[in-house]
Amino acid sequence: MKKNKLLLLGALSLAAVNFGPANAADKLTLYCSPQIEWCNLMVEAFSKETGIDVAMTRKSSGETFAQIKAEARNPKGDIWWGGTGDPHLQAAEEGLTEEYTSPLFDDLHPWAQSQAQSAGNKTVGIYAGALGIGYNTELLAEKGLPAPECWADLAKPEYKGEVQIANPNSSGTSYTTLATLVQIMGEEEAFELMKAMHKNVNQYTKSGSAPIKAAARGETTIGITFMHDMVTQIVSGFPVEIVAPCEGTGYEIGSMSIIKNARNMESAKAFYDFALRADIQTRAREAKAYQVPSNASAQPPDEAPDLEKLTLIDYDFAKYGSSAERKRLLKRWDDEVGALPR
Ligand code: F6P
Repeated sequence: MKKNKLLLLGALSLAAVNFGPANAADKLTLYCSPQIEWCNLMVEAFSKETGIDVAMTRKSSGETFAQIKAEARNPKGDIWWGGTGDPHLQAAEEGLTEEYTSPLFDDLHPWAQSQAQSAGNKTVGIYAGALGIGYNTELLAEKGLPAPECWADLAKPEYKGEVQIANPNSSGTSYTTLATLVQIMGEEEAFELMKAMHKNVNQYTKSGSAPIKAAARGETTIGITFMHDMVTQIVSGFPVEIVAPCEGTGYEIGSMSIIKNARNMESAKAFYDFALRADIQTRAREAKAYQVPSNASAQPPDEAPDLEKLTLIDYDFAKYGSSAERKRLLKRWDDEVGALPR
């Protein structure tokens, strides 16, 4: 009798350990930087499969980096999924993210692996996508404007007030554009172009994809974003045309990092492995997300821009993702472009 009672007590305390409300493995705080529709899909799929309760916030890449940095002494987030790779590299360099190698690492494309290797495995590539110039075909025709063909065209006076792009401080898309122009033209010429283009910019948005959403709805004629965000508008029925700039273009390696000293480390690693799976990456199209997936066995959406057919620059991720360079270029942009009157 006594023995049975002890066994019963033992079983009850085990139950408390495994299933009690204090079990941290049941939770995850996710900082999400791709489009909200894809963030929601990932949260739902992960929670459904694991039973882990996910609290998610969507913010742009630069904003999320700033938040993780501000919270470094008392981290509130567990994992940062998506967003352009440069601020993920900066976070790694500044010791804000945790080293982790997933069992799925060998299944990834070399570009996704090298993103991890260059950051001591404190981040990893989850998708890729190239920058482009998008325009609303109906508005362009109505206004009798020529279609832009090159980055340099965006500074032409005929496009006064017609161009929209995000602020590179908050947006990874816009920082990638800034770094792309610097790599294509050299820094002085790139800043001259951005200053001249400033007169044509009707708004610097917070989020990177906002300009093409605005172009799709006729609120601006031209939007500078990643091409896959333009595809989302086209498949939704909007009159958007994609231009691959004549000088060549830059691209992102969208990345994922576990936050240093994450409170829910086991859940963060479970999400990390989940997000690298081929079947999960293949589901991106359900959210109209058309980036190229990093798992070599994942099926890229048919609509995804074919990066092989574009003239891509040899984007120097190590340099433009370094803390000193990103800070320096953003400060120069604030001083010389953002501060200009319009
Ligand atoms: O909308 C999706 C996307 O373009 C991602 O491919 C990219 O990583 C992210 O948005 C960048 O967003 P932002 O420019 O707002 O940081």
